[in-house]
This record gives sequence, C-alpha cells and structure tokens, in this order.
Amino acid sequence: MEKETVLRMKGISKSFGTNKVLNDVQFELRKGEIHALLGENGAGKSTLLNIITGTFRADSGEIIIEGRPTEIKNLTMARDMGIVRVHQELQLVQGMTVGQNIFLGREPRTGTGLINYEEIFKRADEILRKLDADFSSKDIVSDLSIAQQQMIEISKALLQDFIVLALDEPTSSLTNNEIEKLMQTMDNLRKEGKSIIYISHRMEEIFRITDRATIFRDGRYIGTVETAKTDKAELIKMMVGRNIADQRFNEVCNVREKVALEVKNLSGKGFQDISFQLHKGEVLGFAGLVGAGRTEVMRAVFGIDRHSYGQIFVNGHEVSVKKPLDAQREGIMLIPEDRKYQGMVGILSNRANIVLSNLKKYVKYGILDHAYIKKDAREYMDRLQVSPRDDEYETGRLSGGNQQKVVIARTMNANPDILILDEPTRGIDINVKFEIYKLIRQFADEGRAVIMISSELPEVISLSDRVIVMYEGRITGELNSSELTEERIMMYAMGGENNEKNEHNI
Ligand SMILES: Nc1ncnc2c1ncn2[C@@H]1O[C@H](COP(=O)(O)OP(=O)(O)OP(=O)(O)O)[C@@H](O)[C@H]1O
Ligand SMILES: [Mg+2]
Repeated sequence: MEKETVLRMKGISKSFGTNKVLNDVQFELRKGEIHALLGENGAGKSTLLNIITGTFRADSGEIIIEGRPTEIKNLTMARDMGIVRVHQELQLVQGMTVGQNIFLGREPRTGTGLINYEEIFKRADEILRKLDADFSSKDIVSDLSIAQQQMIEISKALLQDFIVLALDEPTSSLTNNEIEKLMQTMDNLRKEGKSIIYISHRMEEIFRITDRATIFRDGRYIGTVETAKTDKAELIKMMVGRNIADQRFNEVCNVREKVALEVKNLSGKGFQDISFQLHKGEVLGFAGLVGAGRTEVMRAVFGIDRHSYGQIFVNGHEVSVKKPLDAQREGIMLIPEDRKYQGMVGILSNRANIVLSNLKKYVKYGILDHAYIKKDAREYMDRLQVSPRDDEYETGRLSGGNQQKVVIARTMNANPDILILDEPTRGIDINVKFEIYKLIRQFADEGRAVIMISSELPEVISLSDRVIVMYEGRITGELNSSELTEERIMMYAMGGENNEKNEHNI
C-alpha cells in the first residue's frame, strides 16, 4: 500500500537576480520515508531545502503539507509546522557550551524567569546519549572536532518533535562509526513514522538508507526513483546527463628520488613520533579514521599549531615552522578541512579569491594586468566547473561544493611546491571530483609534491602513489600503490597488523 504524502511541492521556481536556480521543480515526500535529493554541485538541492524550511520564499509554485496548501513565510513558521533542518555548513556559537547551542533561542526558564541551565544540560545529555555521542553537554564547542560539532547540529534538530527532518550533507565530516550511528538514528526515526529528506554526495549512503531519490540537474527536475530498483550508474547518469566510469590516477608513476619534505619524530597534541618522507612528483595519501591525528600532524607541519618535539626538512634543509607564514615561505600550502573559517573570504568575488593568493603573478611593468587576472580566474573556474561561471559572483553565495572549488583554485594558483589537502573533495559532486583528481595528479606530475588526507577510501586508492595510515596519533602502516586495498588500509586504520599474518591460515 502506498504511504500517505506529507509534503508535496509543485512548479517551484526560484531565481537569484538573473540566475534561475530552480525551474519548475517538483518534490513529493511520504510519511516514514527517507528521500534522497541528488544532483551536482549547484543543482539547487540546498535551495529547495531553504524553501521548505522558510529561509527563502519560492518565486512561484505550490507547497502542500499534509494535504493543505501552505505558505512557508519564514523559519519560525516552518519550525511550527514541524519542519526542521540540519545545515550543510555548521552554524554554532563556538565559545558556548554544547547544551547552550542545542537550546539556543529555546532556553527553558526557571520559575523566576532565569535560564534553567540544569534543565538544559540534563536534556541535552539525554539527546546526546540517544546519538551515542562521545562528549558532554558542558563541553565548549570550539574544543570539539568538526564531526562532533555536526552531532550538535543534529541534536538541535532532534530537540523538537518534527514531521519532516531535512539533512544537508550531514555525514561529510563524520567518521564511519558516527555515520553508522546517524544511519541507525535515521532508521529509528523512519520507524516512528518521521520523514527525512537526505542530501549526500556519497552513493553508498544513498543505497544503504534511502527509500527513494529525486534528481535535479541545473535547477530542473529530472525524476524520482526507488533506490532499491536502480543502481549507481543510472543515478549518476540522471545527475550528470551522461555515463562516467571509475578511473585510476596513479597508474603511471612519476615519483622522483628527490625528497621534498621530510618529517622526523614529530610529536605534538594528538600525535606522537611521526616520521615520513614526501618525494617530488608524489601524491602521498594519509588515511585513517577521523580523529586518528592526521589533521593535527599537518596543522603542525604548516605551523597552525606548535609541535613539541621533532624536525621538519624542506629540500634537505631543516626549517623552523612556528606559524603558517614560515611554512608558506618554504613553499608549503594547506587547504584545511574547515574551509569555512580558514580557506576563503566569503564576501570577496570569485575572481578576487582566486587571484589574491598570487598577486605578483599578474604584475606587469609594475602595474596589475587586469585582463590577465580576469582570464586566469575564468580559466580556473572553467576547469573546476564553478557554477555560476561568473568571476564577479560573491564566493559566499555559491553552493557549498562550489565554494570548495574556489578554495582549491585559489590554493593551486599560489603555486606551492608542497601542497597539503585535508579532505579536498568533501561535498563535491562525482563529476568534479574527477576533475580535481586530474588537477592534483597534474600538479604532482610537474615535479611538485602533494599530501592528501582523505577518509574516502576509493579516493585514496585511486589517487595516491603511497599511503600512510594513522591510528590514535601514530603511524601504523605504509602501503605503496600496488598494495592498496580497502581491507589493508582499514586494518592499519583500526590499529592492528596482526590480522594480515593470519590471513593465509584461514
Ligand atoms: N543566497 C544566495 N544568493 C545568490 N545565489 C545563491 C544563493 N544561494 C544559492 N545560490 C545559487 O543557487 C544555485 C544552487 O545552489 P544550491 O546551494 O542550491 O546548490 P546545491 O545543489 O545544494 O549544491 P552543493 O552540492 O554544492 O551543495 C547556485 O548557483 C548558487 O550560486
Ligand atoms: Mg548544497
């Protein structure tokens, strides 16, 4: 029997200026279903959620909730109708406690009208327990990892009794373990009859958890399918409009003898005794579970955090890295995982963001060559398919994945000798992922060196010449490209090497 419809949208259109972002799209959500919203970066997924949750109003179209035509005028109205959302970008107050963030704007009061903190922390802890979170309501947000902060966003949503829960790329920074918990929570909510709209670029999740999927392309509705009755190739074809095959980018080895970066016995907060060499022409993958210390090591190499012990050598010379500027002088650049805060300037145009990292490149006879600036910025945008392809567009107004592309363009344009990327394709659609892999590969093939931290095993395997695996702050294994399998990486990522010896006995 077909389940009843809780939300139906028809003929929805939305423009920002001349940019028509949604063009006559439809969407139908049933009671007790998890419904995926799929499409490339900039396809209009987050915008549809913004309309459902009252952040933006559609220019035209109909919204019917539980059979009644409705106007969702603002956030409060959406919330009162039982529509809640978890944001793609974190929206937390960093200096406050977890509990305060979860109850922000909805604080319970005591009889005398004061904020009832006891109640806040007690109820927040109950929700966190439901999610199996490994932190407490009294922790300060800025002390927590991005993954943990994501859990707070989810807790905020769960605080309320809702009909529709909208999740916009919630797993992009979660560990496998945390993803597992989230999937279980979602499954429980589905059994309780709640409806979930789920945006993710990760295909495994789509097939694992969703009942149906609706696909958008360039702001248009392409179709709705039952996930159990389709496959990855068909979904990608609907999203992209053509077939894309899996590829490998590390078959031809251009790694050279010369060592670009050497780290010896580096120790600091969250990692101990890290030693490795990075060669020119090499893409060195860093695998491990989130929290294994990979980000911390690279932050120390780049001078964001201090290390307590150990040495760093660039081109054979020991260097003293106390701040990012020291690392940059040695030709090192880092694209951080929390790019919202560190990677880009939201209010600048795409063009400014891309060229500012290397202004001297554009100086001719002592003056800036504006024609060259425009041409170069546009070339990067073409290559990475930044949408809209407008170099004067404010980067902060781009979709999440498109902002990431601008950060990558900007860093590549700085032309570093050593490039460190922390989860470079998080939130980027499958089509552009391959474009970024090609760029990274080309960059290394020119004789420069790349370190890539990634939690996506297929990405590590298809791109790295060599992979170092970390577990609880230490290096537990190293694999070269011919040895790379998901099982081997996972074995080291779980801390052990004993299993391999037994493999032959089974
Ligand atoms: N506040 C805004 N002002 C102007 N343009 C916007 C705004 N929000 C979104 N857009 C534009 O709307 C289009 C669709 O963006 P949207 O965020 O919905 O994409 P998405 O499908 O969620 O992509 P992603 O997978 O990258 O998150 C993009 O071209 C984006 O630049
Ligand atoms: Mg989005």
